[in-house]
Amino acid sequence: MATIIDGKAVGDAILEEIRAQVATSSAAGQVVPGLAVVLVGDRKDSATYVRMKKKACEKVGIRTVSVTLPADISFDELLKHIDTLNTDATVHGILVQLPLPAHLNEELVLNRIVPEKDVDGLHPMNLASLAIKSKLPYMVACTPAGCLELLDRYKIPIEGKRAVVLGRSRIVGIPMSLLLLERNATVTVCHSKSQNLEAVVREADIVIACCGQAQMVKASWLKHGAAVIDVGINAIDDATKKAGYRLVGDVDFEQAKEVAGAITPVPGGVGPMTIAMLLTNTLLAQQRSLK
Ligand SMILES: *[C@@H]1O[C@H](CO)[C@@H](O)[C@H](O)[C@H]1NC(C)=O
Repeated sequence: MATIIDGKAVGDAILEEIRAQVATSSAAGQVVPGLAVVLVGDRKDSATYVRMKKKACEKVGIRTVSVTLPADISFDELLKHIDTLNTDATVHGILVQLPLPAHLNEELVLNRIVPEKDVDGLHPMNLASLAIKSKLPYMVACTPAGCLELLDRYKIPIEGKRAVVLGRSRIVGIPMSLLLLERNATVTVCHSKSQNLEAVVREADIVIACCGQAQMVKASWLKHGAAVIDVGINAIDDATKKAGYRLVGDVDFEQAKEVAGAITPVPGGVGPMTIAMLLTNTLLAQQRSLK
């Protein structure tokens, strides 16, 4: 049976490392790292994510600035808020919780954040840095960075291995594939038009599932001993649960864990890592601002 990759434990260990660094930095009289969290509208799921992120900041001593805006805010008004945060020296990281209401162009909003405060790593400059191996300081997108961190902390070899990334989103699939390439893996990116998907996945030593389809990846798709990182968070009906649903990943975990060498559960796998990397990036931004 597979090693279950404990993202919660690794995430907690990273938070503890950050807490110690923030404490040292504060003791030296440095400005406290600050993260601005911009929430537009009143989506319940977004509010939950924002609350989790703020709670994690509190735990490690990162100061949060909440900017809560109405769903019908105009594009120009939203940009004004971002500009204010861009020039605020006590704010080192700016997080705009996605998705935004439909009338706001997410791409243009994200592009407005100055790249050095783009702790989500979604600004085009930061994504481009991954592709061109830029020497400029940049921020790596949190979810793919978290996946890589899990592979590293579980000592899963990457160089020379076959990695298959299922999904090509700007937030996960594309940066993930570039990060694995940079680590000298042989990388294949699959998507909805890929043919012989199962056969391609069966070649993989490392599978990153970020396709947003509940339990799509079956045990029969996996090479024996493969490392499986499941980025998916999907709600499926479950009458045995009080809420009437439960969360599952993009991988059929129960079956897959019998074949895989290592696998992340959902929840408790990649999720906690994404927050840990957000805080890592915020600390990094604060440290760079001191230079
Ligand atoms: C990848 O391989 C190149 C040689 O082609 C090497 O210089 C580089 O250090 C390797 N990258 C990593 C992250 O190991």
